[in-house]
Amino acid sequence: MESPFKHDILKGKVALITGGGSGIGFEISTQFGRHGAAVAIMGRRRQVLDAAVAALREEGIRAIGLEGDVRKQEDASRVLEATISHFGKLDILVNGAAGNFLASPEDLSPNGFRTVMDIDSVGTYTMCHEALKYLKKGGPGKCPYKGGLILNISATLHYTASWYQIHVASAKAAVDSITRSLALEWGTDYDIRVNGIAPGPIEGTPGMRKLVPDEMTSRTREYMPLYKLGEKWDIAMAALYLTSDAGKYVNGTTMVVDGGLWLSRPRHIPKEEVQKLSRVVEKKLKTSNNGLPSSKL
Ligand code: COA
Repeated sequence: MESPFKHDILKGKVALITGGGSGIGFEISTQFGRHGAAVAIMGRRRQVLDAAVAALREEGIRAIGLEGDVRKQEDASRVLEATISHFGKLDILVNGAAGNFLASPEDLSPNGFRTVMDIDSVGTYTMCHEALKYLKKGGPGKCPYKGGLILNISATLHYTASWYQIHVASAKAAVDSITRSLALEWGTDYDIRVNGIAPGPIEGTPGMRKLVPDEMTSRTREYMPLYKLGEKWDIAMAALYLTSDAGKYVNGTTMVVDGGLWLSRPRHIPKEEVQKLSRVVEKKLKTSNNGLPSSKL
């Protein structure tokens, strides 16, 4: 699908995207590149990075792939240094790297829980922490600061509760908290905007393949408000909005891009019956109140 944004809204910007070699991260990298940014993508698998960089360069996008694990502080620091030495600066950090699998609490060891916390929450914090010196620009000598941007990819799992996702829900709750705290502290001190995106089920992603097996997908659609899965494009467009000047006054929010799915509840009364049932209940109430409307009691 064609982007509704002007092709140069990220012109001259440099973005580092963790988990940028596949799925949603790759779509964000591609759309950032198509809108003028140079992109560095960070991931654990060399082959995935090489294929992603080749595809980006084929489109004329300036791109590099940097191997690293967000769980390791030295990797975070090395990858950021490499981004700076290649492109000369950093304007946007996208924390997209995440670990996920389905597991009931009975089958999830503390180390399994910790592994996802380490990737999603501590990894996000580590990348932000190591990136700060590059994202804060200007400074006391060159007041005021004109800072860069951080975008954290989250989820909606923790808004209520999600089956077999106790580790990821906990990790993403921490990510949202990091988003708000940094938006407050670094927004105030360095003019850095920090936001998040909470995607719903997005078709064609590793997350969807792992978490919703093919045979379950049609059932998922039955209770979705917009009755369809999202596309990676939807998330990338939200990312463009939040990281471009279109979102210049947005700070500390996590934008839900899920078609309204997290609000969904099974319908407990069929629509055809709701009016009739509701009147019957009202009538019963009036009778039991000796005919007085409840407002007069
Ligand atoms: N069910 C239960 N526990 C699991 C599990 C599963 N499916 N997969 C891993 N674990 C547990 C392991 O048993 C281990 O705990 P233990 O030492 O107590 O046995 C712990 O998690 C670490 O596993 P390990 O395989 O060593 O971790 P890893 O660092 O190699 O892998 C994962 C990280 C587990 C998150 C891996 O699934 C991953 O990286 N996936 C790719 C990213 C992804 O899915 N992205 C989509 C995001 S929506």
